[in-house]
Amino acid sequence: MKSFELLLAFVLLVTQTTPFVGAVKPDTSWEKKLWYGPVKVPTNLRKCEVPHASDSADDSAAIVQVFQQCNRNSEIVFKKGVKYNAWNPMNWGNLSSVVITLDGSIHLPNNITDIQSKVTTNPNPPSGGSGDSYDVGAFHGYGQQWWNVNIRTKRPQLATFNVTNGSIAKIKVIKPVAWGFNIPGTNITIKDHFVDAAPTNGTRDLTPSFPFNTDGFNMGGKNISLDGYYGHNGDDCVSIVNGAKGVVAKNGFCGFSSHGLSIGSLGRNGSNHQVSNVLFQDWTMDEAVYGARFKSWTGGNGLAENITWRNIHVNNVSTPIFVTQNYYDQDFGRPNNTANTSTHVNNMLFENFWGTIGPNPTDGTCISNPCWNYVAGANGTQAIIFDLYNGTATNLHAHNIQTKPIGKQYKDTTVICDPATLAPGEQDGLGFLCQNGPFKATSIKR
Ligand SMILES: *[C@@H]1O[C@H](CO)[C@@H](O)[C@H](O)[C@H]1NC(C)=O
Ligand SMILES: *[C@@H]1O[C@H](CO)[C@@H](O)[C@H](O)[C@H]1NC(C)=O
Ligand SMILES: *[C@@H]1O[C@H](CO)[C@@H](O)[C@H](O)[C@H]1NC(C)=O
Ligand SMILES: *[C@@H]1O[C@H](CO)[C@@H](O)[C@H](O)[C@H]1NC(C)=O
Ligand SMILES: *[C@@H]1O[C@H](CO)[C@@H](O)[C@H](O)[C@H]1NC(C)=O
Ligand SMILES: *[C@@H]1O[C@H](CO)[C@@H](O)[C@H](O)[C@H]1NC(C)=O
Ligand SMILES: *[C@@H]1O[C@H](CO)[C@@H](O)[C@H](O)[C@H]1NC(C)=O
Ligand SMILES: *[C@@H]1O[C@H](CO)[C@@H](O)[C@H](O)[C@H]1NC(C)=O
Ligand SMILES: *[C@@H]1O[C@H](CO)[C@@H](O)[C@H](O)[C@H]1NC(C)=O
Ligand SMILES: *[C@@H]1O[C@H](CO)[C@@H](O)[C@H](O)[C@H]1NC(C)=O
Ligand SMILES: *[C@@H]1O[C@H](CO)[C@@H](O)[C@H](O)[C@H]1NC(C)=O
Ligand SMILES: *[C@@H]1O[C@H](CO)[C@@H](O)[C@H](O)[C@H]1NC(C)=O
Repeated sequence: MKSFELLLAFVLLVTQTTPFVGAVKPDTSWEKKLWYGPVKVPTNLRKCEVPHASDSADDSAAIVQVFQQCNRNSEIVFKKGVKYNAWNPMNWGNLSSVVITLDGSIHLPNNITDIQSKVTTNPNPPSGGSGDSYDVGAFHGYGQQWWNVNIRTKRPQLATFNVTNGSIAKIKVIKPVAWGFNIPGTNITIKDHFVDAAPTNGTRDLTPSFPFNTDGFNMGGKNISLDGYYGHNGDDCVSIVNGAKGVVAKNGFCGFSSHGLSIGSLGRNGSNHQVSNVLFQDWTMDEAVYGARFKSWTGGNGLAENITWRNIHVNNVSTPIFVTQNYYDQDFGRPNNTANTSTHVNNMLFENFWGTIGPNPTDGTCISNPCWNYVAGANGTQAIIFDLYNGTATNLHAHNIQTKPIGKQYKDTTVICDPATLAPGEQDGLGFLCQNGPFKATSIKR
């Protein structure tokens, strides 16, 4: 997806120690498991309830007031069954040892022009359907109306969770306008996250009502663990951005038209970006454009290293494995890399991929000609596309890749890879023959 500058309007800007956003109530089925669940709250905390005035009035000033009064050693409770109106951007402040229990739901404003004017005055830091059951721990973004009219300017990011030693559990993001949670903090645990960014009246191939830029997470923080994700997204389920170090994201399902489990984009406009120690494990990618994806801009700088995607089940995914160090905006054409730089890649492993490759290379986000994700020669049979910058990607390994084009055979699986771009000796460890042609597994010599 072309990256737009991220604008943050509805900000949960929380710093310091142990905030916990969660919801309580046990259940058994997998999807329900994401919904409710026991959340342990320390008993020594002062309990503060968030008031709700009326269904036709804004609660945001009152919410902020509670956070100011209870910013230390407190449990802040959004009451059960209550639909809070959060019609203004909020900074929940500098908290320490605060648990936020969202037993009700938070409804963001649904007036597009009003939100756009607030986004203008609350700029984001760059980041890199409602039955009753939705209303525990849910943020309602009212994004559908934005998707219907395809407005892609001045959009808010749902929240920035900027915390040290924090956790988020069992939060549901319902019809976000665009990007979901931005995670720049340190020592963060995220459990059982739910995103519904599928349009009610569109399909993944249609542009009208396509949920552009509905990333589940943008993560640029340190030591982050995500365990349990069930999402229908129109962009990356998880995007790991500059600054990220030590991210483990596991046990997830990405449906609708995800753009993958992504690193990047990195190195835009020559930036020096750093990402290291990332593991994606045990994911199902359903009808996604990509499964595992790395994207750094033409002419970037910096380094991404020790990145693993393991045990990835792809179902009708356009390109299960896609790496580009030459990402660019198709609207402006491929820029000249006059400085001859790239964001380097080192030690990247793709291990145990299975399932099917879909014939359609893209989705409803394809609004330029050529399409933003056009790759010469791609024809719906590629398990792997490597678009590398000459000699700057090292120690790449693909091991046990067993994907085949839908309705075809394993022998019909192909790759796109230019051997002239491989660093010296790289072919020996690659695990497949780098060529534009059939996928041919090779033994990995390390
Ligand atoms: C985070 O947790 C560690 C270990 O419990 C503690 O030493 C540290 O002070 C905490 N950080 C903050 C900002 O509270
Ligand atoms: C947050 O509060 C802590 C402790 O009271 C203080 O040391 C710190 O400077 C505050 N940070 C900000 C950004 O206000
Ligand atoms: C939306 O907000 C704008 C600007 O604040 C206001 O002029 C307009 O009346 C609002 N529309 C609705 C339907 O409330
Ligand atoms: C997160 O908080 C830290 C400390 O207050 C601050 O330096 C940093 O800019 C914040 N990051 C974002 C993305 O808000
Ligand atoms: C993160 O948590 C670990 C273990 O609880 C602790 O050792 C470490 O100091 C924490 N890091 C920070 C930056 O608080
Ligand atoms: C990272 O976070 C996890 C749990 O959030 C903690 O157990 C671990 O000690 C932390 N590690 C470091 C190096 O901070
Ligand atoms: C969905 O409904 C909206 C509003 O009527 C309309 O603008 C949009 O084109 C519809 N989308 C599709 C895919 O039909
Ligand atoms: C790219 O970087 C250059 C030099 O740092 C700057 O002048 C220019 O405005 C930047 N362009 C964009 C699109 O950010
Ligand atoms: C590579 O990243 C993974 C996932 O964060 C981590 O467990 C492992 O220790 C890292 N390896 C090195 C050598 O840093
Ligand atoms: C790239 O360089 C060539 C030759 O110098 C020039 O013709 C072309 O316009 C440049 N393209 C861009 C996008 O700047
Ligand atoms: C990459 O570099 C090697 C060695 O410097 C050179 O032989 C090869 O032609 C280059 N490939 C491209 C695509 O520039
Ligand atoms: C698709 O492209 C590959 C090259 O990547 C080629 O080997 C294969 O024959 C093509 N298949 C079809 C059906 O066009």
